Amino acid sequence: MAYKRSIIVTGGAGFIGSHVVRLFVEKYPDYRIINVDKLTYAGNLANLKDIEDRPNYRFVKADICDFDAMLALMQEEQVDGVIHLAAESHVDRSIKDPFTFAKTNVLGTLSLLQAARLYWESLPEKYEGKRFYHISTDEVYGALEMTRPEGVEPPFSTKASSGSHHLAYGEEFFREDSKYQPHSPYSAAKASSDHFVRAFHDTYGMPVIVTNCSNNYGPYQFPEKLIPLFINNIRHRKPLPVYGRGENVRDWLYVEDHARAIDLIFHEGRVAETYNIGGFNEWKNIDLIRVLIATVDRLLGRLEGADEDLITYVADRAGHDLRYAIDSSKLQRELGWEPSLQFEEGIEKTVRWYLDHQDWLDNVTSGDYQKYYETMYTGR
Ligand code: NAD
Ligand code: DAU
Repeated sequence: MAYKRSIIVTGGAGFIGSHVVRLFVEKYPDYRIINVDKLTYAGNLANLKDIEDRPNYRFVKADICDFDAMLALMQEEQVDGVIHLAAESHVDRSIKDPFTFAKTNVLGTLSLLQAARLYWESLPEKYEGKRFYHISTDEVYGALEMTRPEGVEPPFSTKASSGSHHLAYGEEFFREDSKYQPHSPYSAAKASSDHFVRAFHDTYGMPVIVTNCSNNYGPYQFPEKLIPLFINNIRHRKPLPVYGRGENVRDWLYVEDHARAIDLIFHEGRVAETYNIGGFNEWKNIDLIRVLIATVDRLLGRLEGADEDLITYVADRAGHDLRYAIDSSKLQRELGWEPSLQFEEGIEKTVRWYLDHQDWLDNVTSGDYQKYYETMYTGR
């Protein structure tokens, strides 16, 4: 079958990437979706078990840093779109091993950009109809203060310029023109990759788009990140290591809402633009953790809140950013996107999913998931 579009999604075996791949494979049977993933510890093909046999889907195990492989794949598949999610994504790991983050996030992005450039520039129509979409993070903007209007206790309600209700711990938000001030090796590497993407537009005319999103939550997130780690620990009554005093604030977005935004922006976003994506939904870690405990306890038929004694304050993360909060009103105004789920609904769905998929969690925590590729794709 001749496909209408041929799109590489990098990092499609990871958390957000697997939701993006699933959405595109199901929604666009006339698109060919090529998932390029190195299958690091964070890549898990079991995340895509339900769509792995679809005729419009192909998995390629490859490292984005391998420029020759990326160029050959673009030529072979006549790729006209790249949605780039592959990255090292965990801040704590970046503190221990910054080199891996620079290599994958910076050099890997550069390798993909250069492969796309050489392939697209070799075609008679050049960049016409092409798109390189880079998925980035709000962490590149650094950290916000916790401020409040006179006489009002946070979290207070604000209205973004789009009119959306925003639960906020401060009066400032990350906007598309906020200054880049990354603090961790992870966010420094993501910031650098964002600059390379924009440089390829300004220097070579490549049609690029960058989006910077807030914290995602939902099914298939690797259980080193706060929400899945804590759900699993509460279930097994293990200590919950809260960094510092648990006062840090994050702006949470349900992962399928992020995937919907990516679909919309890939198709309708303006070239060379940046869009911020966020949940209008700020939570202090400690408050969020209490909601998780109450929800797990309720769903397991335990006394609600009975597991609060699992909360264990531990040494703070080095350089721990105090507050993230996204103003995504540009995206709402221009493309009409807004989060579809209320947080309470999203958390309930998420907790239920992890409790119902203990096998998925066990597979990941035992390391067995890393054998999936070998048995499924190489017959070994
Ligand atoms: P993840 O760690 O769950 O998945 C990353 C995927 O990339 C894995 O499948 C991994 O195998 C793959 N990968 C890593 N190095 C690779 C390489 N060299 N070559 C090919 N594949 C490689 O990450 P995630 O949380 O799904 O994040 C995806 C993207 O979204 C990242 O770019 C991240 O910076 C960005 N982001 C994440 C969040 C969040 O809250 N998780 C928020 C905003 C932006
Ligand atoms: O803002 C977007 C970013 O969100 C993404 O770019 C990153 O890829 C993603 O990992 C996430 O970064 P965070 O550092 O905010 O997420 P994490 O789940 O690691 O931590 C959330 C908050 O919880 C943070 O303030 C640190 C705290 N925390 C985390 C862990 C894992 C704890 O207190 N204890 C923990 O054990």
